[in-house]
Amino acid sequence: MAHLRRFALFVAAALAGPVVHAGANPPAKPALAGLTEPADYLLPNEALMVPFKDQVPVVFVTRNQPEWVTLKGYWNEAAEETVNPATGEKVRRRAIKIKVPLGLTTAPPVPLENPMILAKWALGKKLYYDPVLSTNGEVACASCHNPKKGFSDQKRVSTGIAGALGGINSPTILNAAYNKLQFWDGRAASLEDQSQGPVGNNKEMFGGKADPWEEAVLRLRSNPEYVKTFAEVFGHAPTRDAAAKAIATYERTILIGNGLHDRAEAAMRKRVTEEESGKFELKAEDYAAALKAAFTGGDAHALTPLGLGGEKDSGRAGEMGQRLLTGRALFFGKARCTNCHTGETFSDGGFHNLGVGVTKDGEMPHAEFGRFDQLRTGHKDTSLVGAFKTPGLRGLLATAPFMHSGDEKTLEDVVEFYNRGGNANPYLSEKMRDTEAEAVYLRARAAGQAVDPAVKTFGPSKKPIIPFKLNLTAEEKADLVLFLKALNGDPVDPVVADPQTVPK
Ligand code: HEC
Ligand code: HEC
Repeated sequence: MAHLRRFALFVAAALAGPVVHAGANPPAKPALAGLTEPADYLLPNEALMVPFKDQVPVVFVTRNQPEWVTLKGYWNEAAEETVNPATGEKVRRRAIKIKVPLGLTTAPPVPLENPMILAKWALGKKLYYDPVLSTNGEVACASCHNPKKGFSDQKRVSTGIAGALGGINSPTILNAAYNKLQFWDGRAASLEDQSQGPVGNNKEMFGGKADPWEEAVLRLRSNPEYVKTFAEVFGHAPTRDAAAKAIATYERTILIGNGLHDRAEAAMRKRVTEEESGKFELKAEDYAAALKAAFTGGDAHALTPLGLGGEKDSGRAGEMGQRLLTGRALFFGKARCTNCHTGETFSDGGFHNLGVGVTKDGEMPHAEFGRFDQLRTGHKDTSLVGAFKTPGLRGLLATAPFMHSGDEKTLEDVVEFYNRGGNANPYLSEKMRDTEAEAVYLRARAAGQAVDPAVKTFGPSKKPIIPFKLNLTAEEKADLVLFLKALNGDPVDPVVADPQTVPK
């Protein structure tokens, strides 16, 4: 151990040149034996932080950029001419261009202090799949956010270290890069913040006694390969700050899009442009056109989510197109899904109480306070009691069971849940309630008239909570589910999703 560590430090020093850690770094606190430098952060070698020339940048390219159509796949290695910002001279450099999937027209936001650099991305990918961050060396991020399981774990609630049962469903990492806040209750502001959580969570990755991150950093520093890589990427020994940055960089590339719905929208844009009608509105024929193109191209990723196979189903494009259009109209209309599932990821980034989990029995234990619990004192907002984050709706086919409780097993169950208006509880979101019926109830009660005894009332004022029933027919429910399946999208590129694939 000791000699390994000495070797490690030697490698770090050799690679990084003079290590900058005097003075400006955090004051030394009593650290774990063996930690010679602060575990939290060290000042990086700034030259390595500039995505330029020797630091291969990873660049997102979206459909709004002309270059997008020229990119063949998701992950593209390109050489490009650029100008050195320091000297003004022209240089040729390598760059990774990520073709942001159809349907996502903005690139995921990247914090200025954590630019996307290939070497950092590769380090983040390694850390994501490596159980080294867990105390017993058995749990990795990928254990609960497994690429083979839609970057979730397909369990009701997660099992972590030594089989510890967590209390909540593991959300997918797919498109988490677009989340305004992370976690079901939004308690982390960024992927960088979030990735530090599991390491210290005694139900996830931590079974030790001292400071979880000091222990984790010590494990990284006793591994010569990590010492070498951190030195190459950051210019210093492994730290918590650097590990969090690397993991977040990797996570930002886990994107999903190009579902059949997105393809239909593209078909629509093409049609409207050709017609010169200027009426950008989806029709059944646009969905049918996207389906036909998928049948012709043998594109299983677009077809299988909808339960369609090869040739034998190719005659069904028209009928399915009609059903998808109905499903879409329901989503944006009668079924009121866009009250909360908005934008390109189909999430408003907000928090709402739907009466999921134990709350369904009208109980509100503290553990289920959700977003409310995370609001700062002085900012407590009772409309957010029991409220959880609106998840995005892309990639649902691999991420069941659903909801923060994992209570809903299938998409059919989810639609059934919304059809009855969620579950009445004292804090059910106003968007889920039949406020008109509640007003009628209140007026009748005030006038001393008979009221429906089935209506649930809460609190000292006996406030009636009446969930808004959608009254969907069986056919409408099926079409709505079909529309959700059309949002599923392509599998994530193996360069990102396969732990063994290393980019050239
Ligand atoms: C033992 C299972 C487990 C492990 C290991 C684990 N996670 Fe999680 N992860 C979860 C659960 C459960 C949640 C939801 C917790 C909550 O919201 O309170 C979550 C939430 C997240 C989120 C937020 C997603 C969103 O939509 O809000 C991200 C991102 C994430 N994890 C990344 C990671 C990374 C990176 C690692 C490794 C450092 C990791 N997880 C390790 C189970 C796990
Ligand atoms: C009032 C806002 C709101 C409305 C309206 C709404 N949702 Fe949701 N949706 C949410 C929230 C919040 C969650 C997570 C709730 C929880 O776990 O407590 C969620 C969860 C889901 C999930 C589970 C996703 C996952 O990864 O677990 C699906 C699927 C879903 N909604 C689809 C729909 C559909 C379809 C409709 C329309 C019928 C709809 N939603 C209407 C806010 C809403």
